[in-house]
Amino acid sequence: MTMAATPPPEDVARWRRDWEAMMRHYQPDRDDLLAAGLATAEQAHGRAPERVLDVGGGPGCTAEAVLRRWPDANVTVLDIDPALLGLTNAALPQVRTVRADIGSPDWLPAAGGPYDLVLALMTLHYLPEGRVRDWYTEARHLLAPGGLLLVSDAMHDAPVPAKPRGGGIGPWTVWWDALSAQPSMAPLLAERAATLSGCDSAEFVASTDWHGETARRAGFGETTALHPGAGHALMAFRR
Ligand SMILES: C[S@@+](CC[C@H](N)C(=O)[O-])C[C@H]1O[C@@H](n2cnc3c(N)ncnc32)[C@H](O)[C@@H]1O
Repeated sequence: MTMAATPPPEDVARWRRDWEAMMRHYQPDRDDLLAAGLATAEQAHGRAPERVLDVGGGPGCTAEAVLRRWPDANVTVLDIDPALLGLTNAALPQVRTVRADIGSPDWLPAAGGPYDLVLALMTLHYLPEGRVRDWYTEARHLLAPGGLLLVSDAMHDAPVPAKPRGGGIGPWTVWWDALSAQPSMAPLLAERAATLSGCDSAEFVASTDWHGETARRAGFGETTALHPGAGHALMAFRR
């Protein structure tokens, strides 16, 4: 496989900054939510987690926040999207990136492990219900004993309607349209188009109870709903 050329650093920085701004449209309390999750991981582990996997980590904004808090952590970002992984690679050379599709159990060997902390932020809603159930079992396999899984996504019982206004046309589309107009991004976007055609989001939304019960059935011990708010919740599951 030929790797696409890397865009200039100033473009990479701008697109990653705009990504964070775009994600705040969906998760206004994103910083508080992540801070609560990382504090819980420290408490669970008794110190800073050393091995961290961000599933659906996209352009690496969460990986960067993890490294700000735990500079010595070994961080892996796994994602299906080569354009987003390209931005992570360009901005964070110390982060390992893995291109894999969590829509099939084949992602498990690609992910490696064991990990002290696995994150999946705004990612599981891409999968249909049956795959989310299996995914919890698979994610548990990646964790060291006592390790923590953090899941944040739209959940029915979080206070604000989960779907963005405007039938899904919104900042997400605006961000991608703007990126598509950038000549420096053309090689990564061509690779993306070749990889992702037909991969649509299932837009799966369940309740915090559903996620808790599904994780329990997958073998997780402790479940905590950490931060319900603004249409999204953050949940922690201990192996
Ligand atoms: C809404 S974005 C969230 C990205 C990041 N977690 C964040 O909070 O900024 C969802 C991410 O999941 C990734 N994704 C969607 N379906 C996937 C799949 N089947 N396998 C791996 N990653 C997937 C997308 O490429 C994207 O990076």
